[in-house]
Amino acid sequence: MEIFFGLVATIFIVLSIPLYAIFEAPRLQEAQAAQLGADLNEAMSLYAENCSVCHGLAGEGIGAAPALDNPALREADPAVLTKTIARGVYGTSMPAWNLEDGGSLSDYQVNQMVTLVLHGDWLETRDRVVNLGLAPKVPFTSQPDPAILAQVQAPPDGEVLQRGKPVCRAVWPATARMNPAALAPA
Ligand code: HEC
Repeated sequence: MEIFFGLVATIFIVLSIPLYAIFEAPRLQEAQAAQLGADLNEAMSLYAENCSVCHGLAGEGIGAAPALDNPALREADPAVLTKTIARGVYGTSMPAWNLEDGGSLSDYQVNQMVTLVLHGDWLETRDRVVNLGLAPKVPFTSQPDPAILAQVQAPPDGEVLQRGKPVCRAVWPATARMNPAALAPA
């Protein structure tokens, strides 16, 4: 009788090992996918708050701040990305982000930013920036506001003002041109 129970127990154990392996693998994958989703979710908010001002709403890059939606970065060495984000790039405007280096992000949050660069969805990130109200109200542009230009052009000779460097002209108050007294020292 005891032998019989021993045999049943042994068969049970022997069978349960492959069964465990079969059921455990997808469970592990699911857990990893859930963790990735949670990390990306937090990373998008951190991006909106800390990075979008330089790297753009959707990681498209602005001026000297390079694009982060760059497919090449998805193949980048995570260790290099971690170092860049944690310590910044000396001699550029890329700040150090890790708390240890004077920044505001924990090690875990720096890793979340690396995850965003490697696996993030940049259109979803753009939506996050906009939804958090962190998108610039007026998109960055080197062109002057047409309404201001029209105002500058309105006075006689105004068209002269508008020529040349329109940005400076548009910023310079039109009233000064219309009323020279406004330029006189008080
Ligand atoms: C004040 C502007 C500014 C902010 C804010 C900023 N960056 Fe940068 N970042 C830069 C600049 C400029 C560079 C390019 C440095 C260089 O010339 O190598 C850069 C480079 C990088 C690079 C390397 C890209 C590459 O192609 O090698 C990564 C990754 C990066 N930034 C991530 C981030 C993350 C993540 C944040 C937010 C936590 C952030 N940056 C915030 C300006 C900024």
